[in-house]
Amino acid sequence: MAFPSSRPRRLRTSAAMRRLVAQTSVSPRQLVLPMFVAEGRSEPVPISSMPGVVQHSRESLRKAATDAVAAGVGGVMLFAVPQHKDAVGSQALDEHGILNQAIADVVAEVGDQTVVMADLCLDEFTDHGHCGVLADDGSVDNDATLARYAAMAVAQAAAGVHVVGPSGMMDGQVGAIRAALDSAGHSDVAILAYTAKYASAFYGPFREAVSSTLQGDRRTYQQDPANGLEALREAALDLAEGADMLLVKPALGYLDVLRAVAEVSDVPVAAYNVSGEYAMLEAAARAGYLEREPAILEVLTSIRRAGADFVLTYWAAEAAGWLRA
Ligand code: PBG
Repeated sequence: MAFPSSRPRRLRTSAAMRRLVAQTSVSPRQLVLPMFVAEGRSEPVPISSMPGVVQHSRESLRKAATDAVAAGVGGVMLFAVPQHKDAVGSQALDEHGILNQAIADVVAEVGDQTVVMADLCLDEFTDHGHCGVLADDGSVDNDATLARYAAMAVAQAAAGVHVVGPSGMMDGQVGAIRAALDSAGHSDVAILAYTAKYASAFYGPFREAVSSTLQGDRRTYQQDPANGLEALREAALDLAEGADMLLVKPALGYLDVLRAVAEVSDVPVAAYNVSGEYAMLEAAARAGYLEREPAILEVLTSIRRAGADFVLTYWAAEAAGWLRA
């Protein structure tokens, strides 16, 4: 009988050998924790569809950010829920608005040890729940929204944010934000551009997390899940407009898009392991259908392997703790 001429199993024979030849690793610094804060709360409130994730009070946000940094995460991404929403999302631009206050709180607490990022989008702040302002016919007005984003970026920068994350998928948003930041003297504030953000059903639990008021959907601005090519067009535009980092979202159903964007990008690429991906795995683990910790680590490793330099994930602090151990 002929011996197999090649034996790939040799490199799998022991834990030590597998450790030596592992091509992909996940480090705490590559994990960014998205966090929610709600105005007027005195206590954190659990988000039922995302066990383990809460809407923070300002106080509990500071504490949780400190804990996440102690666990070794690379950064935090802040989302906020204001008490008063209106048609143009005024609270997003107000220096006393909850998001800008939360940025200042977290920067004061851990800003010298970690990267503080904030979502730059109007959906949490508008009463209609869209990511931009509306034209008379009810459609989302791209260029009027850019002016709001530009002012929102300057307000976040004034609060001390290190990185803004424009997630609204308006055309020209990166260029508008870059120009506004630079003319206001904030040339050091970086832009993590949501390059390929798909109109996904996997944002479902997030909508509870930010008490979303959205009626309808976001398909006139977020990308069609059927399309890969336009992610490359969006990437080229974001890079030309001055993006410092690119992001693909969601992660798991879009690993091919992540890989394609990583291949053409000359800046770091991130992926957002979204709320529905989190909820799905947590529910399966609770039902006893899969083993939670290895499943989480496999998800994070797969996203890194597909090309993400860092990953936004609700497991960031917990997984960072395991990975440091
Ligand atoms: C919009 C925004 C969304 C998410 C992050 N930013 C929701 C949406 O586009 O509807 C989703 C994040 C998640 O599902 O974890 N500001």
